[in-house]
Amino acid sequence: MRIDIVTVLPELLESPLNHSIVKRAQDKGLIEIEVHNLREYSNDPKHHRVDDYAFGGGAGMVMQVEPIFRAITALKEKYAYEEVIYTSPDGEKFSQPLANRLSIGGNLLILCGHYKGIDQRVRDHLITKEISIGDYVLTGGELAAAVMTDAIIRLIPGAIGDEQSALSDSFQDNLLAPPVYTRPAEFNGWKVPDILLSGHERKIQEWQLQQSIERTQRLRPDLLD
Ligand code: ADE
Repeated sequence: MRIDIVTVLPELLESPLNHSIVKRAQDKGLIEIEVHNLREYSNDPKHHRVDDYAFGGGAGMVMQVEPIFRAITALKEKYAYEEVIYTSPDGEKFSQPLANRLSIGGNLLILCGHYKGIDQRVRDHLITKEISIGDYVLTGGELAAAVMTDAIIRLIPGAIGDEQSALSDSFQDNLLAPPVYTRPAEFNGWKVPDILLSGHERKIQEWQLQQSIERTQRLRPDLLD
């Protein structure tokens, strides 16, 4: 699987994609991620501009169709994509089920939005899916692309050490994860629940499920609807 990200700010993606599990997954060859600078596809060889004034007026610049068309076409000539995604607050809300689906679907191309928006013709003709990471407006789509890439990569078998643990994440069964503890068993008078020290695997699992249900009812009752 590969993820290509097209952006005017590649620097913003350097750190999130080059540490921890996301980096290890690339080092292990489980995924290839490439960040492409949209400015390299500019019409303007001198200033590498990729935006222009909006027809009809209005504040803010609009990302031009041509550089985006060239970037996406060049990538599509090399790779087949399952989805060409545009990050936008208008899009489908990103969620664990969507991350699951994108993690098994094949290559992804993510176009990061910026400025006031992109020429509508890009959305009409080149994008197959618009995704929002939440009901708020970011200055650009790079952080949204980093969030989605992270959530997708950790689901690829082998990306995290213990394969079970991606499946037992919060949200995988619409339940929040149960509380976890590590040594020491007592600190400052604060004790780890006895059941977790008991060694009864079945009882521990029952307790964890109960905790997950209670936590979900208390913190995210909407997940149980
Ligand atoms: N770009 C700006 N805001 C965004 C959001 N909430 N999700 C995805 N992309 C965005």
